[in-house]
Amino acid sequence: MAVTVIGVDGGALPRGSAEVLESARLVVGGRRHLDAHAPEHVRTLELGPLEPALNALSSLAGDESGVVLASGDPGFFGAVRALRERGIHCSVLPATSSVQQLMARVGRSWDDVTVVSANGRDLRQAVNVCRARQAVIVLTAPGAGPAQLGSGLEGWRRTMIVAEDLGGPHEALVTLEPAEAAKRTWREPNIVLCLADLDAVPHRGWHAGGEPLPPASGWGLAEDEFSHRDGRIVGAEVRAVALAKLAPRPGALVWDVGAGCGSVAVECARLGAASIAVESDETQVVRLITNAAGHGVDVRVEEGTAPQALRELPRPDAIFVGGGGADVVTACAHAGASRVVVALTALDRIAATRDSLRSAGYDVEGVQVSASRLADLPDGSARLAASTPVVLVTGRKDAAKEQDR
Ligand SMILES: C[S@@+](CC[C@H](N)C(=O)[O-])C[C@H]1O[C@@H](n2cnc3c(N)ncnc32)[C@H](O)[C@@H]1O
Repeated sequence: MAVTVIGVDGGALPRGSAEVLESARLVVGGRRHLDAHAPEHVRTLELGPLEPALNALSSLAGDESGVVLASGDPGFFGAVRALRERGIHCSVLPATSSVQQLMARVGRSWDDVTVVSANGRDLRQAVNVCRARQAVIVLTAPGAGPAQLGSGLEGWRRTMIVAEDLGGPHEALVTLEPAEAAKRTWREPNIVLCLADLDAVPHRGWHAGGEPLPPASGWGLAEDEFSHRDGRIVGAEVRAVALAKLAPRPGALVWDVGAGCGSVAVECARLGAASIAVESDETQVVRLITNAAGHGVDVRVEEGTAPQALRELPRPDAIFVGGGGADVVTACAHAGASRVVVALTALDRIAATRDSLRSAGYDVEGVQVSASRLADLPDGSARLAASTPVVLVTGRKDAAKEQDR
């Protein structure tokens, strides 16, 4: 049995396709691909679910051949992976990917663009990548399209370019704000380019999808990398441990509650997470904005007092509580995050914080982090300079359970 996967992009089929189709015993594909390209005398199987098609292809005899018609480059978020998973080795005649077509229509280079798929997974991950990164393409899916993406992006400054039916008779490209996209009905298939700045010309990079994370300057940054009021910053060592427990990463959303100058929020964003900083003090908010800009990351700043300020925020994956009382911890414990990290210097709050997280269903652990840095003595020898110990109380929950909520 020989299987060829032919890419379809609305133009002529790739070279060699006609011969392969003519000699095929079975052609598999979506309805419109079959109508347009399957020879009349050949048995066809419409996709739908992939499983019956994989079974039919597997049962072809040794001297019979099958064809799969698939969109764009079938090796890119396409049928080739599923075929190989079933042990079916195939030849591929690729067409132009929808990603290439979209970027060609827009007339923008795309080596810096992160591409994510919303197919068969929680759309939140794709939304969080769009919130965090400057340029993202989303391969959409039914129920996880431009409207849902648009509503997830409300509160972030983004422009969406939605392309419907690229290469097809109903091709259309629309540039609009997320709130506008959220209100519309969209024709499938569609694909979305989400940009922080429509006119920005990206740096010449070396790594497809944008600079790799974390940046070369690392993480657990020194305090003097941030504008802050003396002593009102999470120290570098404590921050490093807190970051390890928060696990910020592309696709996740982190809240930094009582963010102060925003060092945790900024570091989470530098590690690829979407980041929201909640802070009530106006001057700290200014610092926060300066710090995010200085590190070239997007942190959504919510000026307000927790827990009220948390009410309308999108569901986080992780929360850092750097400030606020017991009511803030309680609100954070019920916000749907799989990780909550509370930083405390007041010892009498430890038990209540632990109990509050436990009663919300978290497994709780705590650690006191105290660091002593090397400092110089006048005679040239070294001493240890101790910083104030901080207790980190961490609650963890199974992420899968949280996703079902
Ligand atoms: C399973 S992925 C396949 C991607 C394909 N392998 C490619 O290279 O374009 C399907 C998604 O690709 C995008 N897509 C494929 N063909 C498209 C088209 N003609 N117009 C707009 N989007 C398209 C849509 O986001 C669709 O949900």
